[in-house]
Amino acid sequence: MKVLVAYASERGGTAEIAEWIGAELLRTGVDAQVSPAGDVTTLDGFDAVVLGGALYAGRWHREARRFARHHAGALADRPVWLFSSGPLDRSAEEREIAPVPGVAKVARHVGARGHATFGGRLDPGARGFLASRIAQRASGDHRDRDRVRAWTDAIADDLRAVSA
Ligand SMILES: Cc1cc2nc3c(=O)[nH]c(=O)nc-3n(C[C@H](O)[C@H](O)[C@H](O)COP(=O)(O)O)c2cc1C
Repeated sequence: MKVLVAYASERGGTAEIAEWIGAELLRTGVDAQVSPAGDVTTLDGFDAVVLGGALYAGRWHREARRFARHHAGALADRPVWLFSSGPLDRSAEEREIAPVPGVAKVARHVGARGHATFGGRLDPGARGFLASRIAQRASGDHRDRDRVRAWTDAIADDLRAVSA
């Protein structure tokens, strides 16, 4: 079993979540490769995929959307899990946050086995017109590594069940 953990990230927060997922898969004995979604040309050689994207203006990062479009056929043939990273408050820790409509559509299209919304991260000194304005009222690191780890462990269990 080899799992691709593909991610689309603008400011690095989602990339780091993908690294946490990859490290946890490896720790549980599942072979994993972590790659930026835009660098992946083929899913050949991967038995399963975890695809994650940062949320910007209510949508997945464009590279995650592009990946889902480009690899739709191959994704439909494999176990797939999706994640989003965004909320700049405690909401993602307090309750399950449903995927935004575009991600829900991808989930249906590829038959995803699960989706999680994790908290996001924004530096108080973030640059960019919109980012700096948002950072004035919401910034900080709202990612919960324990939750990411628990979600990944459930994937590893599911993968073992699928391959058995
Ligand atoms: C311009 C801008 C728009 C954002 N829009 C959303 C959004 O619609 N929903 C959400 O949950 N988070 C939103 N966020 C928060 C980001 O998703 C969060 O900072 C995330 O961790 C960014 O991931 P990255 O560091 O991988 O780029 C937004 C942040 C910025 C700067």
